[in-house]
Formats: sequence, C-alpha cells, structure tokens
Amino acid sequence: MNDEAKVALVTGAGTGIGAACARALADEGFRVAVHYRSSDVKAKELAEKLPGAFTLQADITEPEEVDALLVELKEKAGRLDVLVNNAGTNRNGPMASMKIDDYDAVAAVTRGTWYLTKRVIRRFMLRQKSGRIISITSVVGHTGNRGQSVYTMMKAGLDAMTKSLAQELAGRPILVNSVAPGFIATEMTEELPDEIRQGILDKIPQGRMGEPEEVADAVAWLATRASYVNGSVLHVNGGMYGG
Ligand SMILES: NC(=O)c1ccc[n+]([C@@H]2O[C@H](COP(=O)([O-])OP(=O)(O)OC[C@H]3O[C@@H](n4cnc5c(N)ncnc54)[C@H](OP(=O)(O)O)[C@@H]3O)[C@@H](O)[C@H]2O)c1
Repeated sequence: MNDEAKVALVTGAGTGIGAACARALADEGFRVAVHYRSSDVKAKELAEKLPGAFTLQADITEPEEVDALLVELKEKAGRLDVLVNNAGTNRNGPMASMKIDDYDAVAAVTRGTWYLTKRVIRRFMLRQKSGRIISITSVVGHTGNRGQSVYTMMKAGLDAMTKSLAQELAGRPILVNSVAPGFIATEMTEELPDEIRQGILDKIPQGRMGEPEEVADAVAWLATRASYVNGSVLHVNGGMYGG
C-alpha cells in the first residue's frame, strides 16, 4: 500500500453490508477506514485483513464523536476520497403503538449521517476538490413497509439528501449517490420469522435475498468507475422495485 492510495471511510463496517463494502473498496485499492460503534472485535479483525486499513470508533449520534473521528482520520490517513454512509438502525412496530423514543433512536442516526457528511465535505472534499459520497438507503424508503413508518421516513429522507447535495455541489467534481438495497441476507434479516421471510421472498422476482457483496459491488462501482451518475438512487433488490 503506497502513501498515494485513496482513502475510503465506511461507517458501520464491522458487520453485514458495511463489512462487505470495506472488503470491496480494499479490493479496488482503497485504504479503508473501518468505522464501528460497538462491533470492535469484528471491525479490528476485518481491518487486519485489508492492506493499509485501520479502525475508527464513534457513535455517530454524538457530534463530538464525529468530530473526533475526523481528527483521527486526518492524522492516520491525511485525506478522504470516498464516504460510505452505511450505519443505520431501525425500530419496527405499528405506528399507533410506537413511542417517541423509537422515533428519536432512528432519527438520531440519520442526523449523525447528515452531520458526518457535512463535516466530510467541508474538511476534506471541498479542499481536495474531489470525492464520492454514497449513502446506503433502502427499497422500503420508496415502497413503504408495514411496521416501518420511522425507518422508511428516514431512508427516504437520506435519498432526498443525496439529491439535494448533488445539486448543491454542482460544478464540483464530488459525486453524491445512494444505493438502496432490497432484502439482504445479514444478521438483521436472519432474525425474521419464517412466515415473514416467505412473504418477502414471494415479492422478489429473483426469488432470493441479496448478498451483502452484491450491494458492495454497486458501491464499489459508484466509488470508482461511475463518472456520469450523480444525485441518483441505485436500486439493488432482485427486481422487487425498479425506482
Ligand atoms: N439487511 C438488509 O436487508 C438491508 C436492506 C436495506 C437497507 N439496509 C441498510 O444497510 C445498512 C447496513 O445494514 P446491515 O443489514 O448490514 O445491518 P447491521 O449489521 O445491523 O449494520 C448496521 C451498522 O450500523 C452501525 N450503527 C448503528 N447505529 C450506529 C451509531 N449510532 N453510530 C455508529 N454506527 C452505528 C452498527 O455498528 P456497530 O455494530 O459497531 O454498533 C452496524 O455496523 C443499514 O443502513 C441498513 O438500514 C439493510
């Protein structure tokens, strides 16, 4: 790994889709900042396997932790070329019985994503005059989903952030996109009861859940080879929704 290697920060990279994105970007030659909040063992094991990678810890709901993360990133890598906003959380349930705390928990991660993105643009990408920002959203932000009123609001909001930011950055070589996965086989979806899992599979023309690597492929393409895709939502969902 040479000192000129481009640097990618993937949030929530200790697990699931984030870990697959970190591996895919390392395969593309990026030095990867493997961010985690609580999955320290997994994140450190992953970083050890990827050339030049290092870990960064932060709860992104806390602005001062985001600030500290970016100071550490600057010290360790000196630059940032790609930001993958993958960290996310959900609270599911019928809207009528959900609590304000449920709303706040999901919204806090969205606020953290907005704050991290804002700081990354100002601190790195505007100065470097280059960058790629990719946010992992969800098909359900477009289709809606029973029991996911808050999660769907937040994911739809992130797609809107992508579009607004691409317009704000017009004329600068910073591309901003979303990748909206359908149902992907991760720990999150492993916990689904069989009946709900079958109901989901029935709606997917390809008849199976996606793999984290299939989402990561789209992220790696947007981070590298895509040159005329900006302010877009790339759907990766086995045909269940085309946008
Ligand atoms: N699996 C699916 O079917 C699916 C479909 C569509 C979209 N998505 C989206 O894809 C992304 C990854 O999901 P996943 O399926 O891979 O689930 P996951 O393994 O639960 O990943 C969520 C990640 O977010 C991180 N995170 C949560 N709250 C955080 C906070 N306050 N500060 C910092 N990091 C935080 C977690 O970090 P720690 O573990 O270190 O705490 C974890 O690594 C999420 O945005 C999710 O909404 C998933």
